[in-house]
Amino acid sequence: MPTDSKVSPVVLITGATSGIGAATALAFGRAGWRVALAGRRAEQGDAVAKQIRDLGAEALFVATDVTDRSALDRLVERTVKQFGRLDAAFNNAGVEGDVFVPTHEQRPENYAQVFDVNVRAVLASMQAEIPAILKSGGGAIVNNASIAGIRGFGGMSVYSASKAAVVGLTRTAALDYATQGLRINAVAPGPIETDMYDRFATEEVKAAIRQRVPMGRAGTPAEIASAVLWLCDPANTYTTGQVIAVDGGFTAA
Ligand SMILES: NC(=O)c1ccc[n+]([C@@H]2O[C@H](COP(=O)([O-])OP(=O)(O)OC[C@H]3O[C@@H](n4cnc5c(N)ncnc54)[C@H](O)[C@@H]3O)[C@@H](O)[C@H]2O)c1
Repeated sequence: MPTDSKVSPVVLITGATSGIGAATALAFGRAGWRVALAGRRAEQGDAVAKQIRDLGAEALFVATDVTDRSALDRLVERTVKQFGRLDAAFNNAGVEGDVFVPTHEQRPENYAQVFDVNVRAVLASMQAEIPAILKSGGGAIVNNASIAGIRGFGGMSVYSASKAAVVGLTRTAALDYATQGLRINAVAPGPIETDMYDRFATEEVKAAIRQRVPMGRAGTPAEIASAVLWLCDPANTYTTGQVIAVDGGFTAA
């Protein structure tokens, strides 16, 4: 993290063109961070970057497919070239794949695609980010897991396994850098109103989910953003290797 209080810290966010990623990028911009946004859809990415600049913060969109390791290296390079440092990263890009499909009918192609984006790309993102963050004197990484990675949900075996793998990657990577000033944590969102939620949940499913959430509602992307911001806060110096459920009490029940 910057030692000079006049230097704004820099965060990189993947999957920042929509949903939780876009809301988190805006929250960091509002909090005075400089923001590098990564995603595949240039028009949406440029629009979120403009919204951040309209708040008076600096933002850069870099078109990036997170399954392409060389693109991730270029993303980190562009970020450091533009802002001079990297202090934090939110590895948020993810796909749900086939849901509400029983385990014995899950397709190998679905497994390959979901694990490629949700697991291999999270590892590759950390591998691209870690040297740059260490060079800046340490900082924080947050990976986006899911409550599906910490408990079972019928019909979601592949997605759930991929998010459990994110939990494993997070806890282990946290140990690897614990003495080097780099904290690594995960957020585990409950049901959150985004395009992904609309893709996998019909109105009927949403009503059933609301009944299972102690708070009685789905969360908003901004509610995940505030947890990510806290996990990356330079004042938050002793939290590492944790999986923070932000789920309206779902996993407490
Ligand atoms: N919405 C929920 O209920 C919920 C719950 C738990 C966890 N999550 C996790 O939150 C994260 C964000 O999802 P969201 O709900 O905001 O939905 P979303 O579909 O709006 O966001 C996912 C983002 O990832 C991007 N992405 C997918 N594959 C990519 C690739 N190869 N390269 C670059 N970007 C890619 C998408 O374009 C999109 O911008 C995901 O990891 C998801 O698994 C969501």
